[in-house]
Amino acid sequence: MTSPHADDTRANSFATPPPECPAHSTGAVTGRRRLYGPEADADPMALYELLRAEHGSVAPVLLHGDVPAWLVLGHRENEEVARTPSRFSRDSRRWLELQKGNVALDSPLLPIVAWQPMCSFVDGEEHQRLRAAVTQSMERFDGRGIRRYVNRFANQLVDTFCSDGHADLVTRFAGHLPMLVMTQLLGMSEDYGPRLVEAAQDMMKGSETAIASNDYVVRTLQALVARKRATPGKDFASWLIGNSAALTDDEAVEHLRLVLIAGYSTTANLIVNTLRMVLTDRRFRASLAGLQMTIPDALEQSLWDAPPFTAVYGRWATGDTELGGQRIKSGDMLVLCLAAGNVDPAVRPDPTVPMYGNRSHLAFSRGPHECPGQDLGRAIADTGIDALLTRLPDLALAVDEEELTWTPTLLSRNLDALPVTFTPRRPAQSATPAAPWPTTPPAQRATATATAPTRAEMPPTAPPIPLPPQHAPQHAPQQRTPWWQALTRWLRGR
Ligand code: HEM
Repeated sequence: MTSPHADDTRANSFATPPPECPAHSTGAVTGRRRLYGPEADADPMALYELLRAEHGSVAPVLLHGDVPAWLVLGHRENEEVARTPSRFSRDSRRWLELQKGNVALDSPLLPIVAWQPMCSFVDGEEHQRLRAAVTQSMERFDGRGIRRYVNRFANQLVDTFCSDGHADLVTRFAGHLPMLVMTQLLGMSEDYGPRLVEAAQDMMKGSETAIASNDYVVRTLQALVARKRATPGKDFASWLIGNSAALTDDEAVEHLRLVLIAGYSTTANLIVNTLRMVLTDRRFRASLAGLQMTIPDALEQSLWDAPPFTAVYGRWATGDTELGGQRIKSGDMLVLCLAAGNVDPAVRPDPTVPMYGNRSHLAFSRGPHECPGQDLGRAIADTGIDALLTRLPDLALAVDEEELTWTPTLLSRNLDALPVTFTPRRPAQSATPAAPWPTTPPAQRATATATAPTRAEMPPTAPPIPLPPQHAPQHAPQQRTPWWQALTRWLRGR
């Protein structure tokens, strides 16, 4: 049996590559290429194709700290792994490298793979119990109400920059919209939205304040669980706690954190990636304008070409097995490379051909752990982009496409900025609040607001979003909601 760390003739042929060999530029060491480092970060898709050319649909790779693992590149093989929990478990406690002490305590892998009591780390009956609590609570959302809600938040965000004639859609729009919606759905005070965005972004960057940011999120959710146990409402947190799965307080907090962080970052990414595609690819702009293509079509194309999670870390082999011609050893880790699976020539011989109407991409994974929030993510992105393009129909990229830059993380590839120009317009007046269920009673709202975190509780280095005072909306809505005031204060650094 071989494993990623065992000797492999094919891999060893790259151990000392000649100077002209591309292995030099991708950090190949001891026969395996690194999935991290400056070269891998610069062009991950090129690295995946190189690995595919060398190894086929499953490649041996090195993760941070040169810890060995398998990268699953094939569309069919990704499906096979995700759909077969009896061979490929979600339980990271099976990881041999971890058991052997080969993963450093400060490894960036640990926050992602360290086992936690939640549905994304368990299999079988325990997974069904925990996942059912999440999905049954999600089923109680009123889809039409959510769309009205997203529309209101999207319009209020557009109001903060529409009179300027220019904006960065990452920091002024996509980076906020999903969190504002998620905090509402979870049943939190509106004041939390902007601060949670700051904390979530800090956590995803893996900066030195990431642990403090995570602590802030956990404390906020612990307080939410305590409040909802005492006074249940018509919200996700209350439904989760009241579910027949009888979650403990810790399980409830972990699942709220999972939903908040998994739902926020991915949906923000989907909005940005779709907007970039629409703004940079004339075919899509023309198709949208000519109504041959709808925003849901554009979203689906973006989920094929730029899935918000480029990779899922991971699955662990339950026994010695074979995959894509490679012999996998019990306890080996597999990384599902969703981005590479989506451009596998076996399913997309010509990646430039549009995939309208085809939802067989891997962006939401497959099998028992397939994303349960995909409809919500699509609804937020679809409604938000529609509202933005309706308000600013002549939106255009303010820089050359080549000037756009990305920051890679372990799980995703994030566009740093999406600068746009448009004809300046007056802000709309405040829309009528449109909650997907009756809004929190005023007395309860007052309590929630009173216990909202102060700015002093936030991690010190999280960057404020710059908004020079002269760019503030000239015609602010007359009746501002609490989140709106909080966001404006935060944007101004106060
Ligand atoms: C467009 C946005 C989204 C994308 C691309 C996305 C993608 C994914 C992926 C790839 C997984 C991993 C599945 C696996 O382990 O194989 C996942 C899991 C999950 N996602 Fe999403 N997601 C999105 C939005 C959301 C939203 C909005 C929510 C909640 C409101 C959510 C909640 C979850 C949960 C709870 C899991 C864990 C499921 C389990 O392990 O059983 N996601 N998502």
